[in-house]
Amino acid sequence: MISESMLTVAYLGAAALFILALGGLSSNDTARRGNMYGMSGMALAITATIVAHVQANIGLLVSMMAIGGIAGFILARRVQMTQMPELVAILHSMVGMAAVLVGYTSFMDPAAPASGVEKVIHEVEVYLGIFIGMVTFSGSVIAYGKLSGLLGGKPLLLPARHSLNLMMLLATIVLGVLFVQAESHHSAYLPLYVMTAIAFIFGIHMVVAIGGADMPVVISMLNSYSGWAAAATGFMLSNDLLIITGALVGSSGAILSYIMCRAMNRKFLSVISGGFGMTVASSSGGGAEQGEVNPIDSVEAVQLLREAGEVMIVPGYGMATAQAQHAVSQLTRLLQQHGINVRFGIHPVAGRMPGHMNVLLAEAKVPYDIVFEMDEINSDFPDVDVAIVIGANDTVNPSALEGSDSPIAGMPVLEVWNSKHCIVMKRGMATGYAGVDNPLFFKENTRMLFGDARVMMEELVQQIHD
Ligand code: TAP
Repeated sequence: MISESMLTVAYLGAAALFILALGGLSSNDTARRGNMYGMSGMALAITATIVAHVQANIGLLVSMMAIGGIAGFILARRVQMTQMPELVAILHSMVGMAAVLVGYTSFMDPAAPASGVEKVIHEVEVYLGIFIGMVTFSGSVIAYGKLSGLLGGKPLLLPARHSLNLMMLLATIVLGVLFVQAESHHSAYLPLYVMTAIAFIFGIHMVVAIGGADMPVVISMLNSYSGWAAAATGFMLSNDLLIITGALVGSSGAILSYIMCRAMNRKFLSVISGGFGMTVASSSGGGAEQGEVNPIDSVEAVQLLREAGEVMIVPGYGMATAQAQHAVSQLTRLLQQHGINVRFGIHPVAGRMPGHMNVLLAEAKVPYDIVFEMDEINSDFPDVDVAIVIGANDTVNPSALEGSDSPIAGMPVLEVWNSKHCIVMKRGMATGYAGVDNPLFFKENTRMLFGDARVMMEELVQQIHD
């Protein structure tokens, strides 16, 4: 056992480590250190909590922690980089479910305040915790389904969906009043159960209505919700550290949602109310204006590269699935050895999770100082001799700037078509995540290098060597 003041000191230390972790995660070169801070903070928090609060059932606690720890370890070892977003979504769902379960047990706890203001405050905490937790849970499960391809990316738009959402919200408020004012503890269960069911449907309805291209906002939003669910749990358990940690996750997730919305030129409320991506089906299938594609082989592509002075590489989700980053890094070094200036242009929502491309390039040891955000380099394309698009599609789609009926309309994209030559590396003519045709493939200065990104990259490396 440790004293209350020792526990407070341990919690303060853990909170400081969590803040350092967030600071560290803000850039690639400090991210590893940030993770170490986060893990140390969590180890300190768990140890202090167990030592201070747990007097019985230690064996049960340790075995459950061991089962959870081993499952987490195996999952994290096995998960492919491309499955990371799904893993994050499913982990968010667990935070949500934990908040729901803590909410119910906290309400059942005989030691909970039985009367007065304290009782009301406790019940409001329980109610909010269960509501946020359940929305996070069901929303994250649907997000998992969409990201893993189990569910389609198209938004499901029920008629009168806004009225339905409003009705569910109003019912939640009314049930909340009934819950707090219930005459007996026993009679408070009914409104709580009904609200839990509504929150479950609300979470599903909110995420199914959001179109494929807007998933980045959903991921960061659910990240934020999972933080608020943890903070609500902290209030229920009167645990300051959980409140601080939940608020850190909640607010950083909210900031990330804002950044994602800005990157996609969306308003948060319009994303949440759903509906973007409706024109997916009608916008695919091709049309007369598309014209012909102009293929290229690796020999000719290397010729173009050898003659270039400025090369811009634009990676996307296909680089991640093909695991082409190491070959890309190799090609970069070879081009640099030939005196060619190589830079990378990264779209904020390229891939399937925030920072996806940066992580892959860092793993392949591409120097950070040649990797640029879209805003930094988008105006440089007219001076670029060859832009190489590696498995990117939506993030280089000119129709985002031209068409107003496209699901990605208004989203800023990397303007690769402004470079002198543009080589697009992908396996076929398939659409990207948003399911929209891409006029870039039919532009005069675009050449299609068909094939798996890794195989084609390795071919280019081989040709440059020869
Ligand atoms: P996408 O638009 O998803 O396009 C990826 C392209 O890669 C596909 O068209 C595919 O064409 C090609 N590809 C797949 N496997 C390949 C392989 N092995 N070798 C070569 N090419 C391959 O990619 P993007 O430009 O990165 O855009 C990301 C999209 O995902 C955006 O719509 C974004 O909103 C969404 N999204 C992003 C996030 C975050 S947070 N980043 C989260 C969820 C969704 P082929 O099949 O013809 O090869």
